[in-house]
Amino acid sequence: MLDLKKEIVNPQAIRLSVAPMMDWTDSHCRVFHRALAPHARLYTEMVHANAVIHGDRARLLAMDPVEHPVALQLGGSEPALLAQAARIGAERGFDEINLNCGCPSDRVQAGRFGACLMREPALVAASVAAMIEACDVPVTVKCRLGVDDDHRFEVFLAFVDEVAAAGCTMFVVHARNAWLKGLSPKENREVPPLRYDWAYRLKRERPQLKILVNGGIATAEEATSHLEHADGSMLGRAAYHEPYVLHRIDTAWFGGELRSRAELLRSLRPYVEAELARGVFLKHITRHMLGLFHGERGGRAFRQVLSEGAHKPGADWSLIEQALAVTESFAARDAA
Ligand SMILES: Cc1cc2nc3c(=O)[nH]c(=O)nc-3n(C[C@H](O)[C@H](O)[C@H](O)COP(=O)(O)O)c2cc1C
Repeated sequence: MLDLKKEIVNPQAIRLSVAPMMDWTDSHCRVFHRALAPHARLYTEMVHANAVIHGDRARLLAMDPVEHPVALQLGGSEPALLAQAARIGAERGFDEINLNCGCPSDRVQAGRFGACLMREPALVAASVAAMIEACDVPVTVKCRLGVDDDHRFEVFLAFVDEVAAAGCTMFVVHARNAWLKGLSPKENREVPPLRYDWAYRLKRERPQLKILVNGGIATAEEATSHLEHADGSMLGRAAYHEPYVLHRIDTAWFGGELRSRAELLRSLRPYVEAELARGVFLKHITRHMLGLFHGERGGRAFRQVLSEGAHKPGADWSLIEQALAVTESFAARDAA
């Protein structure tokens, strides 16, 4: 029987999402993205199952209630540990637990998780089954198309089928291979060619599965085009470096008024001031906002005011107003 708690049944809930990104998509970043994109599904940075179990949970699993819907991404390959971490994540209120099968870094390979798991579908299936058993929220997988120079669609499909048979109904497909030898993680996000057609074909051949497309999506138009072939678009670097694209997509797909960058930023004032009052440094919040005016007149000055001032002792909301004033002065000059 369909267990509604464990399935993502609302197609709107997965149309737009922001990718898990280590060192980037922390809670401050996600709160910022939430202000821009009220309907997006947000993902945490990857947290290793061991860290969830033994580490500083208050820090590693920090989450603000405005972030919902938000998924916790786990790394690991031991079913019992992943199950325990999934249970902890769900109990802390995460709406989905996602297993990383796409990260190619050496550290990850040494620990036998991330992208090298694409070669171990039975282990992934056992992990997913244990996680599903342990928690009451959907368990999903983020993967690549394959590893190294293995370009056989049937191998990719067999991986998905085995994991789906264990109960996973949603796959985020970073639509390129991971090359485990000779490429850095950064190169692994750029060099192996993108093959969206594989993600589309997966959706065609397994229509019962929810398939999100990820990799190289930079504009609202590109994000929209994937919806013709799959269930959702996940943006990573573009969302981070040019976050206003999230607002454009959210309003285009879900309705609502297109708000200005300044208005969106000012809506975060209560959050920023509450965090500062808790002792958080402004720089930890504003570092995620530097790209808000990317491509706009005054965008560089905005970035400069924030990056030069946010680390100074006592930096507070007034610095953000100062940065906004600079962009507004460019706009006023242009209008004159
Ligand atoms: C700084 C950075 C950190 C990343 N960390 C993770 C991670 O923790 N887990 C993961 O599954 N993918 C991670 N990725 C990969 C992204 O989730 C995404 O799959 C990839 O960047 C391709 O999407 P894009 O072209 O839209 O950026 C990371 C990417 C970047 C740029």
